Amino acid sequence: MKIYLSQDAVARALGADDVAAEIAKHDVELIRVGSRGMTWLEPLAEVEIDGMRHAFGPVSVEDVAALVDGTLEGHGPTEEIPFFANQTRLTFQRCGVIDPLDLDAYRAHGGLSGLERALDMEGLGIVEEAKASGLRGRGGAGFPTGVKWETVAKAEADQKYIVCNADEGDSATFADRMIMEGDPFSLIEGMIIAGVGVGATKGYVYLRSEYPDAIRVMNAAVKIGREAGLLGHSVLGRGPAFDMEIRVGAGAYVCGEETSLLNSLEGKRGVVRAKPPLPALEGFLGKPTVVNNVISLATIPVIFEKGAEYYADFGLGRSKGTIPLQIAGNVKHGGLYEVAFGLPLGEIVNDIAGGTRSGRPVKAVQVGGPLGAYMPVSAFDTPFGYEEFDGAGGLIGHAGLTVFDDTADMLGMARFAMEFCAVESCGKCTPCRIGAVRGVETIDRIAQGDDAAKDLLADLCETMTDGSLCALGGFTPYPVMSALTHFPDDFATAKEAAE
Ligand code: NAI
Ligand code: SF4
Repeated sequence: MKIYLSQDAVARALGADDVAAEIAKHDVELIRVGSRGMTWLEPLAEVEIDGMRHAFGPVSVEDVAALVDGTLEGHGPTEEIPFFANQTRLTFQRCGVIDPLDLDAYRAHGGLSGLERALDMEGLGIVEEAKASGLRGRGGAGFPTGVKWETVAKAEADQKYIVCNADEGDSATFADRMIMEGDPFSLIEGMIIAGVGVGATKGYVYLRSEYPDAIRVMNAAVKIGREAGLLGHSVLGRGPAFDMEIRVGAGAYVCGEETSLLNSLEGKRGVVRAKPPLPALEGFLGKPTVVNNVISLATIPVIFEKGAEYYADFGLGRSKGTIPLQIAGNVKHGGLYEVAFGLPLGEIVNDIAGGTRSGRPVKAVQVGGPLGAYMPVSAFDTPFGYEEFDGAGGLIGHAGLTVFDDTADMLGMARFAMEFCAVESCGKCTPCRIGAVRGVETIDRIAQGDDAAKDLLADLCETMTDGSLCALGGFTPYPVMSALTHFPDDFATAKEAAE
């Protein structure tokens, strides 16, 4: 009997290691895998029956005897569970399927075939393929990955670098963590292809200290990659040399901003640098550097495996391919859902996530982390895409969604956004450093019934948007102004209560 059990941080937090210890007492083969992304079923165990994996979960230690003797009630074949069956898994095709550190299993499931194909191309051929896929930066800004690579490829320098931004700091986002814990070789393969494409021989993953499991898995995968001739030597014995290291950040949100990240990687304080110069021209140690998010890089192997055209056929308008949605907050079915761009927001919240866990009506969805706008139910027909969200006054960011029911206090959420900015500000520019503190005070004045403070808040937000050096100060007005605009009653109620 073969049992697959998730070892993702979420599953472990919910007791998967105790379940594994109990399973080990029986005469079965236990394989620890990454997560299938169905958080509400974790710890998820899968039993192979007639070559098909059947899902059981959440599994407790007490359930193990029944799991092993076949009497535990399950959910049927994992890949037929609607949440899973309706996805288009490209980036996450192996996550939850293979032992993350089994390089043979990685290869057997399509891994390294993208790299083999890339090695047959010239450097600029690789860049052209990335451009043709239409892949845009999944960290949030949505800048075309291939165009960024082209800038680095064409820069003249004795040394170039690939830096992977794994400082996933947005609330409700976990796609980077899941891929690093569940399919680390896809990130490594993506970084190698990027390195060969732009002429970089060294890569770094800047990984947040809050992800100890991902740090452990990535370090182990790099070691295995070196032993297998993927890293540290001529790639697979026929490409240029490429090597990489994992570097651990110290927990500042602003170090997810690329220039601040580069400062931190160089051992300096994590303060934002002015752009230009772009990191693509003067990045790590002043050399041309590709800075890409984990998901951007981990999507590269499947693009090269199946071809740019295949990938670009998915999606909507200029939002090509698939997007790993991270669904969290007050929902019935939270987790990771990879799907082609274009699904209306309402379908994601009501059909896929199953509405609120509390059973109360949805009030708002914050899309794009703490700097994302609160989308009201009236915006639920907005298709999930970069331009479409921009047009609706929001942003998709790293594609994290936090759902709130009708008990949410939107004035409180607006205050939280300003407070978050004040705490996490790097302090380099005035609109953010001082503006965020004044923002908290101004929202407190509104809460105490000062109606005129609303105009002041709008002015302050405009100044922060126009005058901040980076997205932290520049985007905090999104949650603040969307709360004020779409939920005026919450701001009026405060006034009435004060009267
Ligand atoms: P940006 O728009 O300044 O730049 C986007 C990227 O394109 C950068 O890497 C920049 O260096 C590069 N770039 C621009 N022009 C280029 C050119 N001609 N050649 C080569 N590269 C070029 O955006 P920024 O400030 O890097 O990121 C802001 C985004 O980050 C926001 O949209 C927000 O959603 C997201 N964000 C994500 C977080 C997360 O946890 N993933 C946290 C906070 C914000
Ligand atoms: Fe630093 Fe805030 Fe200015 Fe960004 S906006 S550079 S975090 S002070």
